[in-house]
Amino acid sequence: MSGLGKFYGVGVGPGDPELLTIKAVKILKSADIIYVPTKTEKDKSFAYSIISEYIKNSIIKPAKFPMSYNGDVLKQHREKIVNDIIEDLKNLKTVIFITIGDPMLYSTYSYILKMLKDKLPDVETETIPGISSVSMLACKSETPLVSENEKFVIYPVTHFDENEFKKIYETCDSIVLMKFPKNSKEIVEKINKFQFKNIIYMKNICKDGEEIRFDLEAKELYEEVRKYFTIVLLKK
Ligand SMILES: C[S@@+](CC[C@H](N)C(=O)[O-])C[C@H]1O[C@@H](n2cnc3c(N)ncnc32)[C@H](O)[C@@H]1O
Repeated sequence: MSGLGKFYGVGVGPGDPELLTIKAVKILKSADIIYVPTKTEKDKSFAYSIISEYIKNSIIKPAKFPMSYNGDVLKQHREKIVNDIIEDLKNLKTVIFITIGDPMLYSTYSYILKMLKDKLPDVETETIPGISSVSMLACKSETPLVSENEKFVIYPVTHFDENEFKKIYETCDSIVLMKFPKNSKEIVEKINKFQFKNIIYMKNICKDGEEIRFDLEAKELYEEVRKYFTIVLLKK
């Protein structure tokens, strides 16, 4: 016994409350405290809207993360949240941190978990997988990400590098593009130089303004990708 509560990371999937695992729902129903990531204190969290129907008596705490790429700013916010979580765990609470999609795919949760374990090595933790936007894209469009001997890569557009992308194009059969920056026009123009047989595009999956296109022309891509919640599957 560590004399601490238990900490869970729970993936809440792409947005449809029916796409949570049974295990996630059980843990959500029994939690003392649920940390919900938001951009501001007042922000209506998308992640919260997914779980709200499953909450019983848990205390909901906003975990405020600014939309910033400044490492120091982000670290400060993470540090504060981890310190708050540690206080709750010391009070023997069951604490959950929820995350959209899967907790181990481009998620703030992975930093929170590492920081927590560094500060509190005895803490008991468990991470519950969620359906990622990548799986959702493939299933909604009924397009295999890969089959037989094919290879695929997930590429964050925020860190686009043309030479690197060329090498990936030469060696992989499918590329999933995620994390489009606000102004991705130049990047998308560079991506459009490569030939893909099939471009599948989804915006705001399971949110207001959901849009799915299975037959996008490369030249249409830029018009479509100006939203943060966009994901694209490129098949050669
Ligand atoms: C910080 S990552 C989080 C990924 C998440 N952990 C997952 O498993 O899908 C955010 C990126 O995921 C993709 N994404 C997540 N949810 C989405 C949704 N509902 N609709 C479209 N894209 C989504 C977008 O590419 C977005 O820029």
